[in-house]
Amino acid sequence: QDNHLLDPFGRRISYLRLSVTDRCDFRCTYCMSEDMVFAPRAQILSLEELYAVADAFIGLGVKRIRITGGEPLVRKGLSSLLMRLGARQELEDLAITSNGSQLGHMAADLRKAGVTRLNISLDSLQRERFAAFTRRDRLDQVLAGIDAARAAGFRRIKLNTVVQKGRNDDEVQDLVAFAVERGLDISFIEEMPLGSVSSHERKVTLCTSEEVRERVEQRFQLLPSSYRTGGPSRYYQVVGSETQVGFISPHSRNFCGDCNRVRVTAEGKLVLCLGHEGALDLKALIRRHPGDGERLRVALIDALRLKPERHHFEADSQVQVVRFMSMTGG
Ligand code: GTP
Ligand code: 5AD
Ligand code: SF4
Repeated sequence: QDNHLLDPFGRRISYLRLSVTDRCDFRCTYCMSEDMVFAPRAQILSLEELYAVADAFIGLGVKRIRITGGEPLVRKGLSSLLMRLGARQELEDLAITSNGSQLGHMAADLRKAGVTRLNISLDSLQRERFAAFTRRDRLDQVLAGIDAARAAGFRRIKLNTVVQKGRNDDEVQDLVAFAVERGLDISFIEEMPLGSVSSHERKVTLCTSEEVRERVEQRFQLLPSSYRTGGPSRYYQVVGSETQVGFISPHSRNFCGDCNRVRVTAEGKLVLCLGHEGALDLKALIRRHPGDGERLRVALIDALRLKPERHHFEADSQVQVVRFMSMTGG
């Protein structure tokens, strides 16, 4: 009992999303502002501190870790952290969410370090649109990164597409076709109101998972699937293919009842729910008591009492989270 992370709603936390940097080589409109100011380096957890955090969570029964950013692959020395985590027998899953830009030269090393699953953002297959989403003209580089990841032999590769009306909603069939041809999974995501994404603006561009699924079904046959990762995505199998199409629907279907996760930002803040501002400063504790894993574990067990029941992102709410998505990597 003492060795598990349980929240007041009876939910067991078995999954950690660990952000290793708030920096990124892209500036996606739904994630960052154009003139984003990043945290000073001294405020970012060192590789040793990141490992200490992960170790404390593993000691408390966490079985899955997803490394996020910013863009995690721009963090110097990441491979050494991954290798240490990849060697931990307790972990069933070591995953990364990336924008794909560095995969061309890093995919093979990630696989060797023991990374099992890879999620890659891809909002459009059209060069100009891609550049409008990311504020960077790098579609070709990302497509090459996806190819490198396929060649490296990951267990599962998933594309992430944030769907916005009038910007890429007419492309969802093409994106599914792209995934099917390459044996990839793909998730369609409803945009969430964090950082500079105002809750008003997102209402204008909101494209619900329902609408996306109808469009996809005009060209592909989808069957509800039992595939689960423990996350908010609900999956459908594309009949006659390996591809799972996922829908992450914060606005149209609340998924918090079976939440299994917490986040730690690159600055060492424990974020108990993506939809709330509240965060606990783990960095202060780690730096005051370096090497004291027991103290960290006790603090985590304690903190879990504050985990909110759910987010309030539904379409008619005014909720706005000040923190940018780049702080938690989703
Ligand atoms: P797995 O659960 O590990 O399969 O990954 P995922 O698909 O949930 O994670 P990924 O990093 O690919 O993120 C995809 C989208 O899901 C992003 O927009 C995340 O912000 C969102 N997401 C992931 N977990 C949560 C959550 O607990 N709450 C909310 N509101 N969104 C989440
Ligand atoms: N709403 C929903 N998803 C977002 N992502 C980034 N910002 C947002 C947002 N405001 C997604 C990206 C990336 C993942 C980490 O989070 O598509 O794949
Ligand atoms: Fe970078 Fe990902 Fe944020 Fe885009 S969504 S700016 S790729 S961290």
